[in-house]
Amino acid sequence: MKKLLISSILFFVCLHTIIAQIQNPLYKNSSAPTEARIDDLLQQMTLEEKVLQMTQQTYGFNTNVNNIEDEMKEVRPEIGSLIFRSINPVYRNEIMRKAMKESRLGIPILMGFDVIHGYRTVYPIPLAQACSWNRDLVMQACAVAAKESRLSGVDWTFSPMIDVARDPRWGRVAEGYGEDPYANSEFCVASVMGYQGTNLADQTSIAACLKHYIGYSLSEGGRDYNYSDVSAQTLWETFMPPYEAGVKAGVATLMSGFNDISGIPASANPYTLTEILKERWQHDGFVVSDWGSVDNLIAQGNAKDSKEAAYKSFIAGVEMDMVDNVYLENLPQLVEEGKIPMRKIDDAVRRILRVKFRLGLFDHPYVVELPYKERYYQPGSMVVAEKLAEESMVLLKNLNHTLPLSNSVKQIALIGPLVKDQVNMMGSWEGQGVADSVETIFEGFEKEFKGRAELNYAYGCNFEGDDESGFDEALTIAQKSDVIIACIGEKKSWSGENASKSTLALPAIQERLIAALKKTGKPIVLVLSNGRPIELGRLEPMADAILEIWQPGIAGGSPTAGIIAGRLNPSGKLAITFPLFTGQIPTYYNMRQSARPKISGYIDIPSDPKYKFGDGLSYTTFSYSDVRLSATKIGKDEKIIAEVEITNNGPMDGKETAMWYISDPVASISRPMIELKYFEKKALKVGETSTFKFEIDPMRDLSFPDTNGIKHLESGDFYLTIKNQKVKFEISSDL
Ligand code: GLC
Repeated sequence: MKKLLISSILFFVCLHTIIAQIQNPLYKNSSAPTEARIDDLLQQMTLEEKVLQMTQQTYGFNTNVNNIEDEMKEVRPEIGSLIFRSINPVYRNEIMRKAMKESRLGIPILMGFDVIHGYRTVYPIPLAQACSWNRDLVMQACAVAAKESRLSGVDWTFSPMIDVARDPRWGRVAEGYGEDPYANSEFCVASVMGYQGTNLADQTSIAACLKHYIGYSLSEGGRDYNYSDVSAQTLWETFMPPYEAGVKAGVATLMSGFNDISGIPASANPYTLTEILKERWQHDGFVVSDWGSVDNLIAQGNAKDSKEAAYKSFIAGVEMDMVDNVYLENLPQLVEEGKIPMRKIDDAVRRILRVKFRLGLFDHPYVVELPYKERYYQPGSMVVAEKLAEESMVLLKNLNHTLPLSNSVKQIALIGPLVKDQVNMMGSWEGQGVADSVETIFEGFEKEFKGRAELNYAYGCNFEGDDESGFDEALTIAQKSDVIIACIGEKKSWSGENASKSTLALPAIQERLIAALKKTGKPIVLVLSNGRPIELGRLEPMADAILEIWQPGIAGGSPTAGIIAGRLNPSGKLAITFPLFTGQIPTYYNMRQSARPKISGYIDIPSDPKYKFGDGLSYTTFSYSDVRLSATKIGKDEKIIAEVEITNNGPMDGKETAMWYISDPVASISRPMIELKYFEKKALKVGETSTFKFEIDPMRDLSFPDTNGIKHLESGDFYLTIKNQKVKFEISSDL
């Protein structure tokens, strides 16, 4: 009797547990550990459900909630991810409700989107942001972008792009942080922290994505999507550092590139995707392919058909397939044929689920549905937009203090296709930015010079073509003005993806307009708005001043006018070299020395670039004290503190970026002539002096990688350079 009673109790307890498990499975228990929730969910998933998690699809624009039903029919509730293009959280929530209610297991869909430099509040392009040398501002901008994105239904951005770029014929230089590995590393970390915050599950955080892993910017000839011959040494000393920094900063995902890395395409490269990323760096998130880059393996001669492409990409270490459905159509069969073990499928799905759990999507799948006005353009966001635009602008030339304009200037000619432009000022990848939110240069001048000077406007010429019919009007208003502000540059479509150019020169019509204006004898201030370095060899001599404003986003008008008026002191410095002529490419600051430095170069043009990495003028003068080193000879496990006092000698308050460079003139693997290893930007009032410090950590700052990424620190002489000072110190092997 007693036994019967005990076994009955046990039976009912087990039955209760089973029912409870069915009604409230462990994976839905928000207090359970994430890994236990993943294990519980995985063991319940079918192969098809797993492969659907590894699939990302996309749906068109839909900001009209009335149309949701039409598009909703297409969404498979079990899909892993969508590229979500609507700005409407209601639409997102409708799709998510379908996933949570209509799918067997109720797995939330991960909504991704290209939030590259702002969501609705569009910031300067990343290349411009790098020229601000302001890590904190970049982080703030990404934090705002994250909040606007999450409130709009986006959980994941395909950003930051950290492809170190040295060929500006490649249009995507606009999207990264310039030519230097250390600068890309620093702004990578700043953006990952801005996007992801301290907790991915916060409703103001989104998952970040490092792209395009790896070596994409070496696309041959600057022609996008082309073969990239990446030597193992270049891979490690140029391209890997920003990705390693981003992984260490806890980035949730990466995106594999289109490019073929010396014969093994980035989207099917076991060495980069698994040996380094997963095994050496222990990344526990996932990799998404680029748009159709799995299927592209066929064109690249790496796979004979989609089935082989799916196999190669998956086995190499790409967990999610973007929009070509190659995984969905082939992985189940490859598993059934025994070519792919289920444990590898489970590992891939585990990584994707881990990101979804960390984002809190299982416990909070829906976003709050705030009204439009509460989602975008918040006062704080606009302040960041204007400050970042201001600090990214670079004063390249200022002959005879043309700028800031003196109070004697009473008539200002504003001429050129960019004076009243809105759409092109946002640059490529403008996210959900809308042109009518952009403050034009003209509007900036109207506010800045109200009651101080009259503005005379003329369009002058188109971005391209041969129509000079606007020249006469431009010349007429130039004649009656005291100064010409010529606003020229690129269309947004001339940089960004698949926007490779054979020349960095602006179209001849724009140069001819400047040449015509030059004949008036009036001082000319060139205001450049562009997404890549511009060939200035012919333009520069005609300009008295050159202000590079890049593509400043929605708040560039006032900073442009403020700098020209002298209310603001420019503080930007170039994060990418401006070649004198396109033919100099590649030319970048941290090149290796020639075997014959004194005689190497071109026979037809100079070898020096027009403007160098780090160039940027101020309206005030900063003086540097002699650099002090805490020691000039140390052992490999010691450190050196370098210090310098910088004084603002006036006449204006300003911001200065101290850029610390290291040189290692003799090493077993030759080193670049000079390498940026630290930067720090501070505001200094007139008369103020501040100490700038750089703690040299030999293993971090003086070592170099070999062809497998192993770091070597060799003893010997090194040099530290800051501004125009170069001091020697020694790493001794016998200390
Ligand atoms: C594009 C780009 C990539 C972008 C993705 C999704 O082809 O290469 O940067 O994130 O597709 O739009």
